[in-house]
Amino acid sequence: MNAPKEKLSFKTNSELMARRLAALPKGVGQGHALFAERAENAEIWDVEGRRWIDFCAGIAVVNTGHCHPRVVDAARQQLSTFTHTCFQVVAYESYVELCERLNAAAPGSTPKKSFLVNTGAEAVENAVKIARAATGRSGLIAFGGGFHGRTMFGMALTGKIAPYKIKFGPFPGEIFHVPFPNALQGVSEEDSIAAIERLFATSIEASRVAAIFIEPVQGEGGYVPAPLGFLRRLRALCDTHGILLVADEVQTGVARCGRLFASEHYDVEPDIITMAKGLGGGLPIAAVVGKAQIMDAADVGGLGSTYAGNPVAVAGALAVLDVVEAEKLCERSMVLGERMRARFEAMQA
Ligand SMILES: Cc1ncc(COP(=O)(O)O)c(C=O)c1O
Repeated sequence: MNAPKEKLSFKTNSELMARRLAALPKGVGQGHALFAERAENAEIWDVEGRRWIDFCAGIAVVNTGHCHPRVVDAARQQLSTFTHTCFQVVAYESYVELCERLNAAAPGSTPKKSFLVNTGAEAVENAVKIARAATGRSGLIAFGGGFHGRTMFGMALTGKIAPYKIKFGPFPGEIFHVPFPNALQGVSEEDSIAAIERLFATSIEASRVAAIFIEPVQGEGGYVPAPLGFLRRLRALCDTHGILLVADEVQTGVARCGRLFASEHYDVEPDIITMAKGLGGGLPIAAVVGKAQIMDAADVGGLGSTYAGNPVAVAGALAVLDVVEAEKLCERSMVLGERMRARFEAMQA
């Protein structure tokens, strides 16, 4: 009974691809013509038994490695107690504990509050809702090349038409894009700040802008870190005009950039931070973390969703935070980053 399960039929990647193409709409893309059989740490085995080094990590998700034993154990334990109550109906301590830990870890000294959702796009949607509720303003500014998800506000904030926005408009109004500072494209931080000032003169007055959304390191935009001084200048500009600074850390968070939050490198306290991806170690969970007073702007019942903060995903996320600490993954991320940079710079030379 306990002998390893023998495979009765072998399927090839191309057979599965044929079924996939017949069964799924073409809008769901696929980066590699592979179907996973299993995965462990940094490796994936496909259905044909080939072993791959997974540089994609599920798009920056399994920062703690595929199937980290502590994440799997935590999820398994939760699966055997309860899998769902809907937090807004019957609450559970682990959800509160995860929010407490995110509040304590978030950059800056202002007291924080957090709540949980399922995906990065959902976190972005909620950040928009909170920013509008807290400021009573409607305008939003984001950056060219930025990516914020595939929901309506996520797409509207995204600064890249193909393939994310094509055929899906019109998008919500009052959303404006300015160039992201990027030396390779000849855009300096002065250019970006000047573009925002120009918006205030030509398109929307500063006093109607609720928030500026920025990825501290653009992901889809080409892995471009914002220059060190830029986020500080953005923070100052936001303070001058009463605009909220939203750091979209869906991709940059949870040790990927050498800190729990990439914003920590900039010594800047965002008003709201969106998190997802690495937080669940492969389980779907996301969070909105922000200054307590701002986060309390929405009325009771205005935030949440049926599965938001699902207890199995929460258990995984708590284990992820433990693993990041225990295995010093922030430090490791810095070491690996430096090693890769040195290697690539040598190749470039
Ligand atoms: C910066 C950023 N924001 C939001 C999202 C959307 O997250 P999700 O795909 O979980 O909805 C992504 C996903 O790649 C992202 O990189």
